[in-house]
Parts: sequence; structure tokens; C-alpha cells
Amino acid sequence: MDWLAVVGTAFWAMLPAYVPNNAAVLAGGGRPIDGGRTWRGHRLLGDGKTWRGTAFGVAAGVALALVLDAVRPALLSLLWFDLPHFPFVPALTLSAGAMFGDVTASFLKRRTGRARGAAFPILDQLDFVVGALVLTALAAPAWFGRWFTWPVVLAVLVLTPLLHVSTNWVAFRLHLKNEPW
Ligand code: CTP
Ligand code: MG
Repeated sequence: MDWLAVVGTAFWAMLPAYVPNNAAVLAGGGRPIDGGRTWRGHRLLGDGKTWRGTAFGVAAGVALALVLDAVRPALLSLLWFDLPHFPFVPALTLSAGAMFGDVTASFLKRRTGRARGAAFPILDQLDFVVGALVLTALAAPAWFGRWFTWPVVLAVLVLTPLLHVSTNWVAFRLHLKNEPW
């Protein structure tokens, strides 16, 4: 595989995992998942993790996978490498795994005394990647193994933090997010 094929595959395969966090920002608000509960003096997850944001985020990731499947044939006629299509299970696990990783990161942030919105470098950039990859590898091992080869996984781990930092900065400048990370 040439490097453009690796990067293209990585980006395409991860799109259903990239969208949920951004969609959650747009839909956030309402009841927090932890219901306001605290543990050892800190919120369990905090007000930044809501049912509405999470449900909307997961739905947005699955919806995007359907859109990608629809445009894939046209795109493949222009490309020299293959791209994954998204059966329901990986579409759901990429999306829900990303949200799960994000929620887990908030749990860890609260345990380390970080307030809602505080930065936690590296964790902030990779929580959703690890969640999406691990859940998909467990739930759809054959599909995962076919598309997430080692070079693709490496590309995901390098590319995602760069994409995450730049899209969050844009969301911050557009006043969609309160912090630039
Ligand atoms: N959001 C949500 N539900 C989620 C994830 C995000 O409602 N599962 C919404 C919230 O409005 C949140 C915003 O998206 O404030 C930004 O998400 P994020 O940066 O993940 O949350 P923070 O507010 O920064 O909180 P934390 O410190 O826990 O990450
Ligand atoms: Mg945040």
C-alpha cells in the first residue's frame, strides 16, 4: 500500500468515529448522564456529558456511515485503492466507541480533579480513537482486521490528534465550543 492509500483508508474508516464528538457539541444540554452524582468530592462525569449529546452523537456517526456507503461507489471509480463500506455493527461500534472513550476520559478527568472543560492533553486527543478501535476490534474482528492494518492504525494515531486540535480550534472560533481544545 502506498502512503496515500493508507492515509485515505484511515481517514475514511474513522469518519464515523470523528463525527460523534462534534455532533454532541451541537446537541449538548439537558440531563447529565451522571444525574449530578458525585464520587469522592467530584462529579462522576460532569455536566459536559449529557444523554442528549451522547445519543445525538452516536446517531450522527451511524448516519454518516450510511452516507459514506452511498457515495463510496462513485468515489471508488476515481480512486486506485479500495475503501471500507460500513456494515451496521462497525458503524455502531465506531460511533458508540468514540462516545464511550470520551465519557471515560471525562470520568478520569473528574478523578484527577479537573473541572469541566479542563484540558487533559493526549487523553483529549485519543480517548475517542481508543474507544472506537477497541470496541470495533471486539465486536467486528474480521472487518477490523481487513481495514485496520498496522500502517492504517499508525496513520490514525498520528492523524487524529492533528485533526482533533484543528477542528476544535475552528469550533472554538465559531463559538460552538467554550475552549479551543
Ligand atoms: N457533550 C454532551 N454529551 C457528550 C459529549 C459532549 O452533551 N457525551 C456536549 C456538552 O455540551 C459539552 C460539549 O459537548 O460541554 C463539549 O464536549 P466535551 O469537550 O467533550 O465536554 P466538556 O464540556 O469539555 O467536558 P469534559 O471536561 O468532561 O470533557
Ligand atoms: Mg472539552
